[in-house]
Amino acid sequence: MSETSTLILAIETSCDETAAAVIENGRYVRANAVASQIETHKLYGGVVPEIASRQHVEQMTIVMEKAMREAGVTFQDLTAVAVTEGPGLVGALLVGVNAAKAVAYAHSLPLVPVHHLAGHIYANRLVHDVKYPLLSLIVSGGHTELVYMPEEGVYELIGETRDDAVGEAYDKVARTLGLPYPGGPAVDQLAQTGEASLEFPRAWLEEGSYDFSFSGLKSSVLNTLHNATQRNVELAREDVACSFQASVVDVLVTKTAAAAKAYDVEQVLLAGGVAANQTLREAMETKMAAEGRQLLVPPLWLCTDNAAMIGAAADVAYRSGARADLDLNAKPGLALK
Ligand code: KG4
Ligand code: ZN
Repeated sequence: MSETSTLILAIETSCDETAAAVIENGRYVRANAVASQIETHKLYGGVVPEIASRQHVEQMTIVMEKAMREAGVTFQDLTAVAVTEGPGLVGALLVGVNAAKAVAYAHSLPLVPVHHLAGHIYANRLVHDVKYPLLSLIVSGGHTELVYMPEEGVYELIGETRDDAVGEAYDKVARTLGLPYPGGPAVDQLAQTGEASLEFPRAWLEEGSYDFSFSGLKSSVLNTLHNATQRNVELAREDVACSFQASVVDVLVTKTAAAAKAYDVEQVLLAGGVAANQTLREAMETKMAAEGRQLLVPPLWLCTDNAAMIGAAADVAYRSGARADLDLNAKPGLALK
């Protein structure tokens, strides 16, 4: 490998996917292996942290070896090993962190810690040319964050949810509608057949704030459904799903557009599991195009948790000198800076 090229083994275990990837020069996906635990957690209607940790332990080595085999590389070929250090479920994160430390120690490789959200943002870099300054909206099961990046590797959190993450609201509404976990794709699909005929609240918060709030919307949807059941009134589930989604998308698009204008960015990046939502993608694309901005969205396989995105972010971190020692610990509440 020349001095400027990198070959990074990246590991991600922050929630319910055990993932390993091999990324060349921060852009080329040599291998991307993911073992999803969705089928297991489906039985409980959500992620059970203890079960997630145990499944990561069972899958970690298998997934890592699969990625190395698919990439056709040996540990001696690697420049570094990278891992999500946080945020996420502590027991889940610990499995990936310890696996990465073992590889780093056994093969004398630099260890690069990566923030999970930096990974979601940099997923875009695997498929698009990103230009700074930019704005990124990260929407996932655990996060709803607007991040301004004046330059590569620099993150300014300008807005975040004050209560539920948007994916969390999707998952709870789905559960009440009797839809399976994860709720996002199921609500999204049901909404396609409905009409936005119900008025659900939109939390705009104070003038100029880029923060979000989805708990009022979630409660309103749940109350509407419970009241209808109590009164024996038949509500069209698809209209509830469609009206809920209309409220979510309206707030996300309006706030992101206002921030993009205030920060005067050319590019807006969508990231995270909820970025898989077709209605959100289309509404955001239309709004940004109307305002002369470019929207970048990763393909579906890069929206939900994976290790390729961690490898992409790790390349930036590695080149800027980020290194961890073998005392690296999982950081469940890690802030993005
Ligand atoms: O990024 P991700 O895989 O994990 C976290 O870091 O949280 O995001 C998972 C979240 C879940 O809440 C899931 O319901 C949601 O993303 N999601 C969607 C869609 N696909 C996944 N939400 C809305 N529409 C979708 N199509
Ligand atoms: Zn995620």
